[in-house]
Amino acid sequence: SKSERELDYQLMEDVARFYEFQLKQHTQKQKVIDYLKGRGLSGEVVKYWGIGYAPNEWDTVLKQFGETPARQSQLLALKLVNENDNKKRYDFFRDRLMFPIRDKRGRVVAFGGRVIDTDGPKYLNSPETRIFHKSNELYGLFQARKEHRSLGRLLVVEGYMDVVALSQYGIRYAVAALGTATTPEHIQTMFKSTHEVICCYDGDRAGREAAWRALESALAYLKDGLVMKFLFLPDGEDPDTMVRKEGKAQFEARLNDAVPLSQFFFSTMRDKHSIGNIEGKAALKAEAMPLINKIAGENQRDMMLAELNKLCGDGHRFTTELDIKKAQKY
Ligand code: CTP
Ligand code: MN
Ligand code: MN
Ligand code: MN
Ligand code: MN
Repeated sequence: SKSERELDYQLMEDVARFYEFQLKQHTQKQKVIDYLKGRGLSGEVVKYWGIGYAPNEWDTVLKQFGETPARQSQLLALKLVNENDNKKRYDFFRDRLMFPIRDKRGRVVAFGGRVIDTDGPKYLNSPETRIFHKSNELYGLFQARKEHRSLGRLLVVEGYMDVVALSQYGIRYAVAALGTATTPEHIQTMFKSTHEVICCYDGDRAGREAAWRALESALAYLKDGLVMKFLFLPDGEDPDTMVRKEGKAQFEARLNDAVPLSQFFFSTMRDKHSIGNIEGKAALKAEAMPLINKIAGENQRDMMLAELNKLCGDGHRFTTELDIKKAQKY
């Protein structure tokens, strides 16, 4: 007989298909289809990602899948159904566009749900369950790996819609963290599939801060041969809006111009500290050294240290022929 885990995956898959089916048969389907059209999504891409609809009722999933007490406990455990203080049970996702989230092996482990025309938080995601650990999963990773025999690079974006829109434009190597920051586990997972990870963020302050946190998480995984880069989009744009405006070629041109981690590291350091005096250089070095020391790759680490010394100067050693000649003049 099937294990509990296998039954969980089976139920999640069935529920995903059920939500998908609602796009074809529910009385409210037209408003959902109009919404998808309004966002420029093709029927093909909707199908590819298995996007569906959770109807605006309290018990659609509960009725369809909760025929026995055992099934209801399973629905509760997978957080497809909630229970209130009066022990009343109801569907967790209601009146939302549904994005099934698959793990690396393609099994549905969670859902993301977006509001369509009602109030409430824009996105509602499955809470952690016995089969879903949010800091490990990346939306789109299964599909990206399936599309490429070897993944030249992975692009990390913020949202489901970004992954889906990029794929519609032929960029099939984007993944999204699930409403969290990019975690060390995410970085580790991505570098198991590719040598180059490009993190895409807004060009605003929040975007730069998120990028810096991703950089800090990445250092310990940056073996020599692995590359992390950052792409900052103009403020107000996300990959979804950007690729729709510019198309594939221009978006990929941006990707090719992404800033390598080393460059982002030193430009951030220079923005934070003045190197016009010893105090500034000392502060910069104090902040930079412990971070550089975390870098896994010996060559990357050594070269970053060399760059740091070049930037801060070590005060007594001449670094170039020109320096020596200049010094001999005096
Ligand atoms: N998110 C979330 N809960 C929210 C808002 C956002 O979990 N209340 C997560 C979602 O995973 C979302 C991502 O953060 O995809 C990025 O948020 P945002 O940029 O606001 O949404 P978009 O992905 O751009 O969605 P849309 O284009 O549909 O507005
Ligand atoms: Mn967990
Ligand atoms: Mn922003
Ligand atoms: Mn966005
Ligand atoms: Mn968006």
